[in-house]
Amino acid sequence: MSFLTLDHVSHHYFSKDSYTKAIDDISLSIEEGEFVSLLGPSGCGKSTILSIIAGIMKQTAGKVLLQDQLITDSKIPIGYMLQQDYLFPWKTILNNVLLGPKIYDTNSEETKTRALELLDEVGLHDVANQHPGALSGGMRQRAALVRTLINDPKIMLLDEPFSALDYQTKLRLEDLVSLQIKTYHKTTILVTHDIGEAIAMSDRIFIMHANPGSIDKVFEVPIELRNETPFLVRRHPKYQIIFDKVWDVLSKKETDSKVVPPTS
Ligand SMILES: Nc1ncnc2c1ncn2[C@@H]1O[C@H](COP(=O)(O)OP(=O)(O)OP(=O)(O)O)[C@@H](O)[C@H]1O
Ligand SMILES: [Mg+2]
Repeated sequence: MSFLTLDHVSHHYFSKDSYTKAIDDISLSIEEGEFVSLLGPSGCGKSTILSIIAGIMKQTAGKVLLQDQLITDSKIPIGYMLQQDYLFPWKTILNNVLLGPKIYDTNSEETKTRALELLDEVGLHDVANQHPGALSGGMRQRAALVRTLINDPKIMLLDEPFSALDYQTKLRLEDLVSLQIKTYHKTTILVTHDIGEAIAMSDRIFIMHANPGSIDKVFEVPIELRNETPFLVRRHPKYQIIFDKVWDVLSKKETDSKVVPPTS
């Protein structure tokens, strides 16, 4: 039994006089504690897949199972982190983090202590009482990470969480997110256009193609790379070899792609 299973999942978006076949017959399984990436060109259905797993949208065909239970029936908490942090500007960082516990009615002194501990772990303890406007993009994404972790999600869905950041901040945040996810044994799905990021962070990479979105190939990242931090993976002798293999697969696909060129 896999932790998460997509079983022949398809999704069509309907409008008044047309429809888009966003994803077609996607089947995949993810084990508990695994970190996988969905890598592929714009419009291949990566965000659609995450929205379906998050339960925001119902697929038009197929099944999504979490620990053998339909995801729609499951009470297992899921964390969602996006490109934009969606922090409320009028709330302090701490109160933004405590929003989930308040909604789920699990807020307590203990939760507040935990929030402050997590903020400390990501270097934000000193700004807990500041508002998001006073923070840099990288700091805000760290706050968004803590806001996700505080609810103790069993799956983390990361939809291009680093793509709006400058390159140095992105590399630092990759290491931090990876450390937090490993420390707390979270099962994670990362959506990215960045081959380097997918190799640096994942155990497996699902390469997708568009029109309609489907899985083209699955790459297993060698164990020696998985045991390194994302920053050090990029310097590993095997990194470029895998990069080139992934690049080759993607290059054979659509030219309408936002994938970064092989210079990193
Ligand atoms: N709400 C919607 N209504 C109609 N079509 C949609 C809607 N959302 C997405 N689509 C279409 O479904 C397909 C998949 O979109 P999706 O956003 O999942 O792709 P993506 O891989 O996440 O793209 P990107 O990398 O640009 O974020 C695209 O053709 C897109 O235009
Ligand atoms: Mg998307």
